[in-house]
Amino acid sequence: MQPEVLLSHGGVLEVTLEAAPSMVPWRGGQRWALTYNGKTPGPTLRVRPGDRLRVTLSNRLDSPTNLHVHGLHVSPNAASDNVFVMIGPGEEHTYEYLIPADHPSGTFWYHPHHHGTVAEQVAAGMAGVIIIDDELDTLPPIANTTERIMVLSDPRIGTTSDVLRWSMMGMMQGRFGDGVLVNATPQPSLTVPAGTMERWRILNASASRYYPLRLDGAPWWQLSSDGGRLAIPVDATGLVLAPGERAEVLVAVERAATMALTTTAWQSTPGMGGMGGMGGPPNRSGATETLLTVIGTGADTTAPAVNGPLNTIDSLADAHIGGTREFTFAMGGMMGGNGMSFTINGRSFDPERVDVEAALDTVEEWTITNATPMAHPFHLHVWPFQVIEASDQRTPPSGWKDVVDVPAGGWVRLRVAFRDFGGRAVYHCHILDHEDRGMMGVINVT
Ligand code: C2O
Ligand code: CU
Ligand code: CU
Repeated sequence: MQPEVLLSHGGVLEVTLEAAPSMVPWRGGQRWALTYNGKTPGPTLRVRPGDRLRVTLSNRLDSPTNLHVHGLHVSPNAASDNVFVMIGPGEEHTYEYLIPADHPSGTFWYHPHHHGTVAEQVAAGMAGVIIIDDELDTLPPIANTTERIMVLSDPRIGTTSDVLRWSMMGMMQGRFGDGVLVNATPQPSLTVPAGTMERWRILNASASRYYPLRLDGAPWWQLSSDGGRLAIPVDATGLVLAPGERAEVLVAVERAATMALTTTAWQSTPGMGGMGGMGGPPNRSGATETLLTVIGTGADTTAPAVNGPLNTIDSLADAHIGGTREFTFAMGGMMGGNGMSFTINGRSFDPERVDVEAALDTVEEWTITNATPMAHPFHLHVWPFQVIEASDQRTPPSGWKDVVDVPAGGWVRLRVAFRDFGGRAVYHCHILDHEDRGMMGVINVT
């Protein structure tokens, strides 16, 4: 159940990705999906710092698309991570990403980013993982672990393109499909000898769903978040992945027993029920759903303790702040018809307008406020950030991030280091229907 892996050789990885509808395996039969090279998830692209990644994207869909390398610290210009490029049906485009020699190792991903078609393309299956490896991955506690990629998604299941159709309410809340999948598989199980350390790179590739994760019966630790390794391993109890977020975890399989990785509906602020407790899926029973089962075999064995350090984080807590900014997520207008607006600072996305002019080689402090009754995940391209404070105290473990949940009616404060690359990129809500409906702004760094 692991996606195919394409590895770089001699510092180069050259691939062609064909975006096309395709029938994919489903419970002994088939279902309709949007795919890269006929697969969902698409192939895993595995590269190293300093590599050159060349991707030719060929569009065999009947709507425009393009490619974004989510979380990579690469140039947003020209043929690099430029989301203003549009690839029409029948066209192709070659991207070339130069991965800096000091790029952190970690789990990143690629997905379409043409404004207006992102939610339907990602929700229907277009996503794949990018891994950057480095030497530290060969040292304890990471060495001698069984590595797996886990792409979480919740597509709508059907045998025709009807799965692309959504109601206005669906667009507003975001799309929630028919059950939760791991690498497009419903409830896979892994058989693992007790005493094994499992290492999972988990990506939330859902268009809208948050995954509060729970693993019963095994100790587990988070090693990395979006932008690479944490300073030390952190107990992963209570881990929640918002759309677009990643976590790398170590799981100590110590017992010859069956354990489950589960999730439930996510309510960011229970009680703010103005819109029916938005932030969770339409099924708000709070029922627990199984993502994956681990079957431990052999004899119970105590796994070695996981301790750090893993990394030295260059903290922005004491950095000189070159500027502060405020952003407010809002939703307004009438439900029904096409009247609902999704804005940041009262404005809806305009690719021709620059909303933020920032200076290269400065650190800024941004406060993102959520003036709505549902949670929104904030995401910035190209330049990773550190989360300083959050209104609900759910400050993630210190490290580099590119997505952070902004709780309903709350706020988060973060610091962004504009280093290495100037250029024009975007920040947005990662509930992709919201992004497609305007909850996105343009930043130009010079
Ligand atoms: Cu994962 Cu601008 O997106
Ligand atoms: Cu991104
Ligand atoms: Cu949103």
